This record gives sequence, C-alpha cells and structure tokens, in this order.
Amino acid sequence: MATDEWNGDKRSIEELIADYQPGYSMEQRFYKDPEIYKREIQNIFLKHWVLAGHVSQIPNSGDYFLFEMDKESVIVIRTRDGEVKAHLNVCRHRGSHICLEKEGNAKLLTCPYHAWSFDLDGNLVAARLMGEDFDKSQNGLHPARVELVGGLILVSLSENPPSLEAMRKDLADVFETFGFDKMKLAASKTFPIAANWKLAVENYQECYHCTPSHQEYAKVHALALAPEKFSGLKKDFLETNDGSIRLGESNCYFDLAKPGDEGYQYGRNPLLRGMKSGSLGGEAVAPLLGKIRDYDGGASEFMVGPLSFFLIYNDHMVGYRFVPNAHDRCSCDVFWFVRDDAVEGKDYDLEKLTWLWDITTQSDEEIIVNNQRGVDSHFYQPGRLSEMEHFEQSFLNWYLAALKG
Ligand code: FES
Ligand code: FE
Repeated sequence: MATDEWNGDKRSIEELIADYQPGYSMEQRFYKDPEIYKREIQNIFLKHWVLAGHVSQIPNSGDYFLFEMDKESVIVIRTRDGEVKAHLNVCRHRGSHICLEKEGNAKLLTCPYHAWSFDLDGNLVAARLMGEDFDKSQNGLHPARVELVGGLILVSLSENPPSLEAMRKDLADVFETFGFDKMKLAASKTFPIAANWKLAVENYQECYHCTPSHQEYAKVHALALAPEKFSGLKKDFLETNDGSIRLGESNCYFDLAKPGDEGYQYGRNPLLRGMKSGSLGGEAVAPLLGKIRDYDGGASEFMVGPLSFFLIYNDHMVGYRFVPNAHDRCSCDVFWFVRDDAVEGKDYDLEKLTWLWDITTQSDEEIIVNNQRGVDSHFYQPGRLSEMEHFEQSFLNWYLAALKG
C-alpha cells in the first residue's frame, strides 16, 4: 500500500508500535494496513490455539469439517482409530484444496484435481503414474496440531505452539464441574463482519458498550452495570455463594500469560438478581451442565488463546470465535453447547437457547462495522479508554508485543 494512504505517514511498524499511547485506542493504520495484517498472520494466527469445533460434530470415523482462517483451510477429521486429527487442506501434488464441502464423511480424502488419495490419517495412499522413484511416504498431508479440552477441539498451525498444560492443570476442576467432556454442540451461527478482526476482539473485551448497545443482555447480566453497582452485587454474590462452582479468578490472559504458555482466563460473575441463565427473562433453557446441582445466579467466563472465548451458564455454554478473513473483514462464529444427553424439543428449545446471543451478536456486528467506518475516516484519532475498558487495554498491550515479535 502506498504511504499516501496514510497521509504521508512513513513510519515503520516498529515506530508505530513505539508511538502507541497507553490508555488510548490504537492508530488507524493498525486497522487498515495490509502490511500489519501480514505480520499478524505470522506472529499471531499461525502461532496460537484457536477453537476449531467440537467432537460432537464428527462422531463417526471419516466425519470431517473444515476450519478456515485467513487463507488457511484445515480438515478436522475422525480417523479409523477414533482419534481427532487435523490436516492442512492442501494437496501435496500441486496444492489444490482437497475437501470442498464444509463438512461431510469420507473413506479416503481424494483430491478433485488429479485424484491423489490420502487416508484419514493424512498418508498418501494412491497417486497415479508417478514413477518408481516416487516416495508416497514423503507426501502425506501437512498436519496441524490438535488438542482436546473436554470435547472442544483446539487447533494450532504452529509446529511449536504455546503450551496448554498450565491451563489444563489450573482449570481441571472447572472443566469437571461444567462437564466439558459431556457436552454437545446444539447450534452454531456465523456472523460475517466487515471490519478488522481486532475491532471485533476489542469489542468483546469490554462491557462499556453493553448498556447502550445490548438492552437484552443488560436485563440479565450484572457486568453491564456501572463499576460501583457491579462491585456491590459481586460482593453479595461471593458472600452468599456456596463455592461449588469455582469463584476464584485465574488471570493468565493476554499480557499476563507466562512466556511459552498459551494465555487463558477464568472468572465468575453474578447475573442480575433472580436470573438463572443467559436467556429471555433469565429463565433456565436446558438441563444443568456437568456436576452442577442448582442455579446460583452466576455465569463463568473462560478464554483460551487470543481468538476463542466462552460464557458458561449453569445450563449451557456459548463459545465465540473471532476469525480473521482478510485485513478488512472477519467473522464471529457463535457456538451453543448443552449437556450431551439433552434432547432437542424435549429438554431444550433451540430458539430459546440461542435467542440472547443471536440478538446480542447481531448488534455487536452492527457496532463493530460502525466502529470500522469511523476508524476509516481521515479524522479518526485514538481516543481515551474508560475504566470499564481495562481488559481491552490488556489485549492491546499483548497485541502490540505480539506484533513486535
Ligand atoms: Fe491434488 Fe493434483 S493437485 S492431485
Ligand atoms: Fe457486545
């Protein structure tokens, strides 16, 4: 991109990073410059763990779905041994995508171009007319790293991704209480967003916008309240809670993660008084998760890596994944999870289950796009952050350090 685009600003990315003023939003170029986006691909998207999907999407051998981010397409598949593996959807012959459908079942992964065939483990098993000296064993599909957290499938495109061990150890009781290995995906929805991915993640980091932008959310969640009102409610919540669901926070997210570890965070906050779950009127919408025996008027937040976030109510969990598609567009994929033995139509109603975060994400999409349109203006300049945007500040600190590399 010509420097004219930035009104003659010829600063390097390093200079731009050094010029960031803590306490303020970032300069326009961070949200527009394709050179910065290129560096984000290397330093962020190809390094960290991202939620690809859930084991309940691929119950049988050969079941697969595609996880796509930026230019990358990954085949997440159940092998004959029942394992979950991930292969880059890039043929080792001349590079064609192999799986073209978003999901399906395959006995062999056969490239549509010249019909090289790979087994479910990614080994090349058939390639016509390649001569005696051609070594099939050297031409398997490139693997992506996979880790399961309960039934959640996390994927990393790095050969040496950050470790998830600290998180696994720290949050073992949380995963058990909520029955992370006993959930199923009940619904998912993609919201395409015509904005840089960081505006979407930043928006998710703060609830300063919740009261003006999310009436429905603000009728259920205490986090939308002003800080002094929220602290009073949180104090009461902590004092009256029996602690059977972990209340203590683990803040190892973004700039607080130890070097070599993937960032993660867990915390529990009160809903407004009388609310049980994230739904219309705060009503229960599904059977209680895992080992939970009752509604305690709270909801937990959990995040892992820079793009995957979860909100865990006592009866269901909502996952949000922000996926960059290009420097000027991204998408938010929302996933609704319930316990794995819950029956749709009997134990939960899809419309009631998905209502709150469908309507809330629609308004998020709108405000994020409006944000980008203003940031695109010649008159945009970084603005001061409020005290309700401290998580956003943490994200910005982490982001700038990651971009620097
Ligand atoms: Fe896949 Fe040729 S590109 S077989
Ligand atoms: Fe929002």
